[in-house]
Amino acid sequence: TDTAVETDVLIVGSGPAGASAALFLSTLGVPNVMITKYRWTANTPRAHITNQRTMEIFRDVGIEDQVLADATPHHLIGDTVFCTSITGEEIGRILTWGNHPARHADHELASPSLNCDIPQTYLEPILVRNATARGTQTQFSTEYLGHVQDADGVTVRVLNRLTGAEYTIRAKYLIGADGARSAVAADLDLPYEGQMDVAGSMNITFKADLSELCRHRPSVLYWVIQPGANVGGIGAGLVRMVRPWNEWLIVWGFDLAQGVPEVSSDDALQIVRNLVGDPGLDAEITGISLWGNNEQYATRLQRGRVFCAGDAVHKHPPSNGLGSNTSIQDSYNLAWKLALVLNGQAGSSLLDTYTDERAPVAEQIVLRANKSAREFGALFEALGLDATLDAEQMNAQIEERKDSSLTGAAKRAAVREAMELKNYEFNAHGVEMGQSYSSSAVVPDGSTRAEPARDPELYYEPSTWPGARLPHAWVGDSRRKLSTHDLAPYGQFTLLTGITGDAWVDAAKKAADRLGVVVETVVIGPGRPVTDLYFDWSRLSGVDEDGAVLVRPDKHVAWRSASLPADPEASLMSVLATVLSRE
Ligand code: FDA
Repeated sequence: TDTAVETDVLIVGSGPAGASAALFLSTLGVPNVMITKYRWTANTPRAHITNQRTMEIFRDVGIEDQVLADATPHHLIGDTVFCTSITGEEIGRILTWGNHPARHADHELASPSLNCDIPQTYLEPILVRNATARGTQTQFSTEYLGHVQDADGVTVRVLNRLTGAEYTIRAKYLIGADGARSAVAADLDLPYEGQMDVAGSMNITFKADLSELCRHRPSVLYWVIQPGANVGGIGAGLVRMVRPWNEWLIVWGFDLAQGVPEVSSDDALQIVRNLVGDPGLDAEITGISLWGNNEQYATRLQRGRVFCAGDAVHKHPPSNGLGSNTSIQDSYNLAWKLALVLNGQAGSSLLDTYTDERAPVAEQIVLRANKSAREFGALFEALGLDATLDAEQMNAQIEERKDSSLTGAAKRAAVREAMELKNYEFNAHGVEMGQSYSSSAVVPDGSTRAEPARDPELYYEPSTWPGARLPHAWVGDSRRKLSTHDLAPYGQFTLLTGITGDAWVDAAKKAADRLGVVVETVVIGPGRPVTDLYFDWSRLSGVDEDGAVLVRPDKHVAWRSASLPADPEASLMSVLATVLSRE
């Protein structure tokens, strides 16, 4: 085999993790090649929920509009129904994904971008198209076979699946974004906690116009409580909107201990009709696939010059909608670090912070998603369904919630309580937005972070405490309204200060010149490039007007200074040198 190709970064996989890594690297001007096994992107809809953190990342790299154009918008995704079938009895509803008025306010306040719902079959092509247009060399039908790394780079053996020819690609760094059965992670022998295949699920995609049943309660999720609904699977039966309101995906569980079932088109049609609740429903079955629920995360995401991102390092059920989001956020954390190291602007130990920062997130989301799936148990228990699989007994139990008896009243109360618990799956705004990093790329300011006032899984609390995500506030002037996130684009460090902090401008320029990196200072105040339109930033900044918040390319706070120090240049030099591993 001959070395045919050389590049800076080779990415294996064109899913959310790989395609976004390619997009971020190309946006930063880093030469990269993306190889992927099949002739095109995902062939089934898979992940949909695209949370605010991901949408603001898309805003940062200029593709938010393209995603919104293909997505089902925020206001149509959240009237989540729990029922015996879509035409059957309603057990209850929750306003989800920030659609409750109170939670909607939390979402509006937290970010310039609202969440939306876009099937992976629509999202991946947007990522691949933009990455390729910006410079990525994308090679379909190309399979990763193995790699060896040395002090200067990685030599990767690949197979062209069209010609059958093997060749090698030489890269300075390799990213394995090759999914839950990652060959790159296996070759690296990454350490994992937890297990794969803890339960069985099947996905059935189908076409049927259900608009009449959904228009008055628009949601992407209709949860179905029926005999068998709590066997395997993701907590209950699920009818999941793919496109409103005529393309759908059913998730139905099976008992893995009994082996993997054969599911014919007729079986699938029967499941569709049962869950919709229409025995004569005219539905076209478009796909059937079986998959295992996983509860597994890597505790180390890299070795040497090779990194893994996405499902390769966190494997979990779709509960909470964190799969694709976390995968994209992994790559957003990694790409700017690779760019700085490749440009000689940062020491190579900056790359170690990828594991320090993202491995705790991998653990958190795997445990959260699995807990959410299990918490459906409380609803089955509340309804008295946990002890039986008999349809008649189940129906009688469900009926009992209408009784005027004490048992009926107790059941109604128990159902209310069990439904409340589902906010941890469908309104976990703190899990989505509250990730905070601790590593050598974050410099503590000596303060202790205040205890959260509300439940940190449900509620995001803005903070400029070093490591936290930069709080969003609207700033601008008579012509423009910008988010604080817009002030801090991906290709630079940004220092935010106020008018009496003017001296930071010169200090940052000198420090940046000495270190050869880009640090832009934005002075926020009347008469300056942007002003604090609603006085929100001064409330959120966590520092005095002459203090400063240093924002990393990924919009996490690297450091903050409560006020203007005697020698701001020296302070910044020392902080930046630490963050960039230049000491
Ligand atoms: P992903 O698996 O998307 O991508 C891996 C990529 O690597 C692919 O492009 C593949 O072709 C490529 N690849 C693999 N091996 C390779 C090799 N040896 N050489 C070259 N390329 C290789 N999540 C969710 O939130 N809600 C949901 O409803 C679902 N449903 C769902 C259904 C099914 C059937 C699957 C498989 C997955 C889901 N998921 C999901 C999970 C979600 O799809 C997942 O979290 C993300 O796709 C993860 O993105 P990655 O990019 O990490 O891996």
